[in-house]
Amino acid sequence: MDIAKLAATAKALVAPGKGILAADESSGTIKRRFDSINVESTEENRRDYREMLFRTIGVDAYISGVILYDETIRQPGADGTPLVQVLSSRGIIPGIKVDKGTQPLSFSPNELVTEGLDGLAARLNEYRELGARFAKWRAVINVGRDIPTARCIEVNAHALARYAALSQAADLVPIVEPEVLMDGDHDIDACYDATKATLLETFAQLDRQGVSLEGMLLKPNMVLSGSSAPDRAPAETVAEYTVDCFKRTIPAAMPGIVFLSGGQSDDEATVNLNAINVLAARVGAPWTISYSFGRGLQSAPLKTWAGQAANVSAAQAAFHHRAQLTSAAQQGKYTPAMEGAAAAV
Ligand code: 13P
Repeated sequence: MDIAKLAATAKALVAPGKGILAADESSGTIKRRFDSINVESTEENRRDYREMLFRTIGVDAYISGVILYDETIRQPGADGTPLVQVLSSRGIIPGIKVDKGTQPLSFSPNELVTEGLDGLAARLNEYRELGARFAKWRAVINVGRDIPTARCIEVNAHALARYAALSQAADLVPIVEPEVLMDGDHDIDACYDATKATLLETFAQLDRQGVSLEGMLLKPNMVLSGSSAPDRAPAETVAEYTVDCFKRTIPAAMPGIVFLSGGQSDDEATVNLNAINVLAARVGAPWTISYSFGRGLQSAPLKTWAGQAANVSAAQAAFHHRAQLTSAAQQGKYTPAMEGAAAAV
């Protein structure tokens, strides 16, 4: 394990104005995304869609790394060039999703635990051989009546720390993702409480298991009202709650926070990211705050592409534009007026 190298990779992933594209949808999730545009989820369509994103000219100014799925890290592009090479030849760092998804948590019917620790050390070594330089594991915390339970938070945090330690031992930067879901009609205080408890336990477990904070990144949710809450908090409130929560839970030694978009619309995720960065700069927050968006970066290009080769240029323009706006938000320089400038790309 080379901590200096891990720390350098972690820093490069959160270089100023840059963030991560999460393109690691599992087979089930990418099928749902393709269903929404009436495209069949075949291996070739998945390749064409992802290759289109990876080859978008100029997007490397905004995208530092891409999280891949197992299929994609082994997949050649249409001309036979491995997709990993398409990325690394443009200075984009390849990463890999390594968890195996969620299962119901025993004795707690509305909660989940993430699986995938068995055999993980060998898989991590293989992924590194295939070109990955960082890894991702997602834990899911539901908010609702009497949940999350301490048990759910503890088992998920424990698994996140186990994965993080194994990743660093395999010379991969772990992206630790404890996602408090926005599904539900709960208010922002409930999200704050669940996020605070989750982050406290996650960093306690990371410490107990010897994970180097300098050689990892955190991928948390923003502190938000539930998606079906009657009165959803505006961006300034989201920023206040989120920064306050993080100040109480995230050690300053950890270099970067890369948010998930978590089902927010792309413009909502961008407005909130901007407000959080404006406030973080004002209060002198110690971490770089950036993005690791899936839907927040892909909604526009996915819709524009619609499975048609003729739409590739327009979809790449949509992706470039969204990445540019998200990058502006990372620097606290986004304004909603920038949304209209898509055609200028
Ligand atoms: P979203 O930004 O769509 O939440 O995806 C990010 C991710 O990687 C979830 O694991």
